[in-house]
Amino acid sequence: MPGPLSAGGLSLANPLCLAPMAGVTNAPLREFFSNLGAALTHTEMVSCAGLVRGNARTSGMLWASPLEGPLILQLFSPEAGTLARGAAAALEGREENASTAGGKRPCGLGINMACPMPKVTKRGAGSALLGRPAEAAAMVRALKAFSLPVWVKIRRLEDMDRTLEFIEVLAEAGADNVCLHGRTAAQRYEGRADRRFAAEAARRFPGLISASGDVFTAEDVGEYLSMGCAPVMLARGALSNPWLLPEALQVLGYDVPPERLFPTPKTRLAGLRRLGERARELLGEHQAVVLLKRLMGGVLRGMPGAAELRRRAGTAVELAEVLRVFSTALTEDAPAV
Ligand SMILES: Cc1cc2nc3c(=O)[nH]c(=O)nc-3n(C[C@H](O)[C@H](O)[C@H](O)COP(=O)(O)O)c2cc1C
Repeated sequence: MPGPLSAGGLSLANPLCLAPMAGVTNAPLREFFSNLGAALTHTEMVSCAGLVRGNARTSGMLWASPLEGPLILQLFSPEAGTLARGAAAALEGREENASTAGGKRPCGLGINMACPMPKVTKRGAGSALLGRPAEAAAMVRALKAFSLPVWVKIRRLEDMDRTLEFIEVLAEAGADNVCLHGRTAAQRYEGRADRRFAAEAARRFPGLISASGDVFTAEDVGEYLSMGCAPVMLARGALSNPWLLPEALQVLGYDVPPERLFPTPKTRLAGLRRLGERARELLGEHQAVVLLKRLMGGVLRGMPGAAELRRRAGTAVELAEVLRVFSTALTEDAPAV
């Protein structure tokens, strides 16, 4: 069986991670994927301006469950000063702070230089930083002061040379890991991620590059790993089929408990029910419903009557109703998905 790997200043049990996803990778979902075998997860991107202002909703995103595995706290800011103040607000006095008390400490800090959404880029944060390498480097240096590994998530630029130059700037500033999403910011989530960028970056910067983009099968994971990218980040692929994680681990030669590897409809339903109940406990009914609806598309895909089930789930406001839809999908005439 392959052993743990050392990547980005961390020792990871395996090379599969859950990518950061705003509105999705909250504590209960991270717990769920840690249980399915993710070696590392990410928080949603957290606004440093919000942390500095003491915004309660933003601070609420910092809490991590003691039951989850290692996680990276991903931050966003347009510049180094606010980034550092936000990180300080997130890390210092955690035990006295109501939003972080009793929670798990992140094992690393992430910087979002990838988000293409206008509400983030118009302020100069996210992928807007790809055009400001000096500020990007200052941001990495600012976070290095916290003595935690610094992971930076970027998008590819239009051409290879500029992409590699940007990575070099981050490496020289001390980034421990650079996760390259092989779409440009202009592509947002459309089109294909261009894997030639990850391959070339991993060749030029051995041990520094992790990969994101179109990870939907165990073969996708294998391809990125064979290029020298580690870890590999699962995003939409994990939402459409959470059991991709154990399946890919098994293909890589890791020991995976059979109930994770060959989940019956009943085991899947039990897993989703646990996730929903944990989300309700930690975040409330509404968020639990929203979270489970995110996983609905993948579970229903290709099923007879999927449109009607999706409609029913769409109008549900209570967790019990969403779980009933899953139950119908998974245990009635449904084949295992
Ligand atoms: C709903 C959603 C939210 C996302 N939020 C973030 C985020 O907060 N920070 C980040 O770095 N990337 C974010 N991403 C990008 C993903 O981490 C990932 O790089 C992207 O989805 C490409 O991988 P995929 O093609 O396998 O889905 C988000 C993606 C999705 C679909």
